[in-house]
Amino acid sequence: MFITFEGLDFCGKSTQVKLLKNYFEKQNKEVKLIREPGGVKISEKIREILLDKKNSEMTIETEVLLFSASRSQLVREKIIPFLQNNKIVISDRFHDSSIAYQGFGRGIDTKFVMDLQKFAIGQAIPTVTFFLDIPIEEVLKRKAKLTHEELDRIEISENDFYEKVRNGYKILAGKEERFVIINGLMKIEEIHKVIVNKIEDLLKEEK
Ligand code: TYD
Repeated sequence: MFITFEGLDFCGKSTQVKLLKNYFEKQNKEVKLIREPGGVKISEKIREILLDKKNSEMTIETEVLLFSASRSQLVREKIIPFLQNNKIVISDRFHDSSIAYQGFGRGIDTKFVMDLQKFAIGQAIPTVTFFLDIPIEEVLKRKAKLTHEELDRIEISENDFYEKVRNGYKILAGKEERFVIINGLMKIEEIHKVIVNKIEDLLKEEK
């Protein structure tokens, strides 16, 4: 099973990823966590370039190619081998982030970004994708608690960028059946319950 988490910055994905990992581990299931961009040596190097605020001259074309390059390396080095060995893989962001952020957010032709993702991910198609949806006001509220130093190159983006990314996620989630849209304003435990219920349904279907 390949599970991905998506959403705007500060939507609470990382907390849910950890809770889900614990849930599986309590059942003695082996889980592999993946971080995007990054996760393997080459991809971590690309991550540094992508998130470094000093790289303000980066073009959007370079940005989408680097995110995709980082992902394609991670897919072949880790994700596909893990899945072939029947491990559960959980990824904090995956290809939908590029479609939402670089496609809908930056305005790069979404069809092109989607095709590029197909090339980058190959057979590593998520079984289920949890989209933690929070309003932009909430993103801004959570962002305001951090200093400029704590934010990365993408996180210092303008508010209307986030609006476009959120709409993009909604369009994607409406199109693809693997998406589960969750109200990210719910309590942490409530969100976790929704996620676990969905996983249990999927496991039943598998049997
Ligand atoms: P991430 O490390 O997941 O940050 P966070 O934990 O705050 O969600 O991602 C870093 C930033 O990169 C985040 O602002 C989202 C952005 N991003 C893209 O723009 N495109 C992508 O394909 C991915 C994976 C991330």
